Amino acid sequence: MIAPETIMRVAELMAKAERAAVLTGAGVSAESGVPTFRGKHGFWKDEDVMKLATLQGFLADPKKVWEWYDWRRGQLAEVEPNPGHHALAQWERMVTGRGASYSLITQNIDGLHELAGSKTILELHGNLWYARCLKGCCAELKHIPDTPLPEYPPPCPWCDSILRPHVVWFGEQLDPTVIEESFNVSGAADLMLVVGTSAQVYPAAGLPYITSRAGGKVVEINLEPTELSYTADFALHGKSGEILPQLLEKVRELVG
Ligand code: OAD
Repeated sequence: MIAPETIMRVAELMAKAERAAVLTGAGVSAESGVPTFRGKHGFWKDEDVMKLATLQGFLADPKKVWEWYDWRRGQLAEVEPNPGHHALAQWERMVTGRGASYSLITQNIDGLHELAGSKTILELHGNLWYARCLKGCCAELKHIPDTPLPEYPPPCPWCDSILRPHVVWFGEQLDPTVIEESFNVSGAADLMLVVGTSAQVYPAAGLPYITSRAGGKVVEINLEPTELSYTADFALHGKSGEILPQLLEKVRELVG
């Protein structure tokens, strides 16, 4: 149970943020039924990361890797954004509605923020609903809404190669434009909410420290304490699908 004064103090920061930022991880989608990566029921407990989430693993067995991603896409096709996603989209509308800036940086590849109505989204790790040419024959992304796919691996529609999921695998660089914009947003933010991430995978995990060092406030919302809890101005422990709507309700009361 979070003290009502704490909810009020965070809501006050949210109500007056001029440059609002949000960083989300798998935890924000947990209440939609999407498994997280670490922990008791996480993906990386039962699956071999090196076989499924590296370029080497894909090159060794593209069919198997595509089947795994398609299975995840199939799971996602069944789920919906939860009250946490919706509260963030509502906060964005409030912030931008009064002329302030808002950016949501996500490590998630599930597309649920967009479905909930969030507009300014920086997807650090890609998006499961898109694929691109393995050889990089062009910069095009192919939207692949159907699941299951008719064939594994899907052929590249632009050349004789195959498509790969548009996600960042271990050992790969993040899209330089997306990470640069994320650094800029984090450095400029006067408030960053960090929601549902174990804060272990860099460079995403470093973003709240950039905000903090630049003088912005950092609020962590997570089921449990993380490394970031020591630095955060507020660490709220509980489900994001419950805490975020509670905060939004207070923000609404404050702004009238
Ligand atoms: P993790 O699985 O590492 O962490 C999920 C976090 O969410 C944990 O700290 C949980 O305590 C928290 N959590 C779970 N349920 C929650 C809830 N209902 N409300 C609030 N918090 C909750 O996921 P990420 O931090 O997103 O990268 O992992 C980062 C990256 O590691 C992923 O993007 C992925 C993975 O390897 C790639 O695939 C490139």
